[in-house]
Amino acid sequence: MEGTTNNHEIERVPNHVAIIMDGNGRWALSRGLPRIAGHRAGTDNLRRVMEGCGELGIKYLTLYAFSTENWGRPEEEVRGLMGILEDVIDSELAELNREGVQLRHIGILERLDPILREKVIHAVELTKNNNKLILNIAFNYGGRDEIVHAIRNIIEDQIAPNDVTDELVSRYLFTSGVPDPDLVIRTSGELRISNFLIWQAAYAEWYFTPVYWPDFDKTELRKAVEEYSRRERRYGLVMTPHA
Ligand code: FPP
Repeated sequence: MEGTTNNHEIERVPNHVAIIMDGNGRWALSRGLPRIAGHRAGTDNLRRVMEGCGELGIKYLTLYAFSTENWGRPEEEVRGLMGILEDVIDSELAELNREGVQLRHIGILERLDPILREKVIHAVELTKNNNKLILNIAFNYGGRDEIVHAIRNIIEDQIAPNDVTDELVSRYLFTSGVPDPDLVIRTSGELRISNFLIWQAAYAEWYFTPVYWPDFDKTELRKAVEEYSRRERRYGLVMTPHA
């Protein structure tokens, strides 16, 4: 089901938007700042984008905050990104909860510092009954990793081969219960999927923009949604002829 909105100019609002928040490093570099300053500016931008989702009527937002590949970045940057997640939980959780945001985590928690892990688990538990906006944070997430994890669990549960269906696999993913993304956005001009929601985004519309993530504000989000609204989704079918 697509999202509903009182936003009259946009005909079709995506129910679920997923974002690869790219370009923080280049945003910082172009200002002579350390890379982590770009990640912090990118984090400040989340407020604007979440507000934009509320105004447009987007119900699900998934953010790629830390990939399984990001462990290969310099230690200081990895520590900085972990610190950002912890700061966000410490300083924003109460407000997000008041606003009715449901926080979900997708990815593997095990490799995180135990204190951070507990904070994530607490944030998810505290907000689990909220439904104004479902915010999935992909942190230590990789699409292939997710599929391997699902296959292992399917085998462990001794599911019969004939019972392994498209729908069953979806239920074994970290995103179980979340509808597939309708629109995936990647900022900063890169044209890659980078192991993000590789199963779930099979039929998504993709939107690429050269804008760096810290500058991707409400106006940019609206542009992406307008572009989505103009496109015709066919799911491999042909267009229904109009009478
Ligand atoms: C890609 O930019 C961005 C990341 C690897 C991290 C994105 C994380 C945030 C914005 C923090 C959000 C945090 C939470 C908790 C939701 P890049 O560093 O690859 O940029 P570059 O390609 O210009 O170097």
